[in-house]
Amino acid sequence: MTATATAPTAWVPGARGMLGQEVVAILRERGVAHVATDRELDIGDAAAVDAFAADHLFTHVINCAAYTAVDACETHEPLAAHINALGPANLARVARERGAIAVHVSTDYVFDGQGAAPYREDDPTGPENAYGRTKLAGEERFLAAAGERGYVVRTSWLFGPGGPNFVATMLRLLRANPEVRVVHDQTGRPTYAPDLALALVDLALAAPAVASGVYHFANAGAVTWFELASAARELAIARGLPIVGALTPITTAEYPTPARRPRWSVLATDKITAALGRAPRPWADGLAAYLDALATTQAPRD
Ligand SMILES: NC(=O)c1ccc[n+]([C@@H]2O[C@H](COP(=O)([O-])OP(=O)(O)OC[C@H]3O[C@@H](n4cnc5c(N)ncnc54)[C@H](OP(=O)(O)O)[C@@H]3O)[C@@H](O)[C@H]2O)c1
Repeated sequence: MTATATAPTAWVPGARGMLGQEVVAILRERGVAHVATDRELDIGDAAAVDAFAADHLFTHVINCAAYTAVDACETHEPLAAHINALGPANLARVARERGAIAVHVSTDYVFDGQGAAPYREDDPTGPENAYGRTKLAGEERFLAAAGERGYVVRTSWLFGPGGPNFVATMLRLLRANPEVRVVHDQTGRPTYAPDLALALVDLALAAPAVASGVYHFANAGAVTWFELASAARELAIARGLPIVGALTPITTAEYPTPARRPRWSVLATDKITAALGRAPRPWADGLAAYLDALATTQAPRD
């Protein structure tokens, strides 16, 4: 099938992931036609992506698929590159062939974390770990293949109801342990997955009237992991969720991980604010919305 879709039709690879579920939910709310794929269509497999694209009509691709296990990337970098670098390149290529808008999600981990001011879209990159290297390669290959209809949206510290995340992990640990130690010397901007999903859909539907290229999206305000965990703990207690533990701030040196984490992960979001005509809301508002949802279900996932 090679006909071109006229009404917006969005293809969402990675639709079962934490972010992908929210993108699909917003498309559904908006009444935008969409086709959802996940693991069954390996985005790193060029022939499979070509075959899928030949069989489906789409005007937009919003790529939420990725290899996101940051520590595992250190020992599985070729697999991570297959998904995080080849995958977006394949999607961008078929989108361009069909004149579709292509939106791809990337990460604050493309930066070296040594900054002191919020990172702007054109600041020099320099990933500190294998995940960041594969995501940066994905950005570059995606933009080269997508041309004037390609949009990369970098985000940071994602949390939401649709998958494992730091906040859910903290609540699980605080349910079962008297003391939970959390890193207090890494700073970033937490991002509520439904807020990012809304921005991605709005950007995709506004394109190509907004300039193509790289954008940053994160909720407003910068905190350490310890501060985020503390806020989540207080909101959970206020909502009657079962919390027995207290939090202790520690240093990164006291919590070694296979992959190095950036010390400073604060993204500047002025560019997407100008493009969408609205600023991301404070991270604490997104966190409260998430805790409200958890309090309703009483079943935080981690
Ligand atoms: N989570 C964060 O804190 C964070 C921060 C910054 C940026 N990001 C970026 O945000 C985006 C969404 O992240 P997320 O947290 O929603 O990730 P996620 O929950 O891990 O979702 C990714 C989805 O992609 C699927 N997938 C993996 N390999 C695939 C392949 N070869 N082909 C097709 N689908 C595949 C995954 O399936 P499986 O579950 O079976 O692997 C999963 O359903 C990613 O680009 C990520 O790099 C995330």
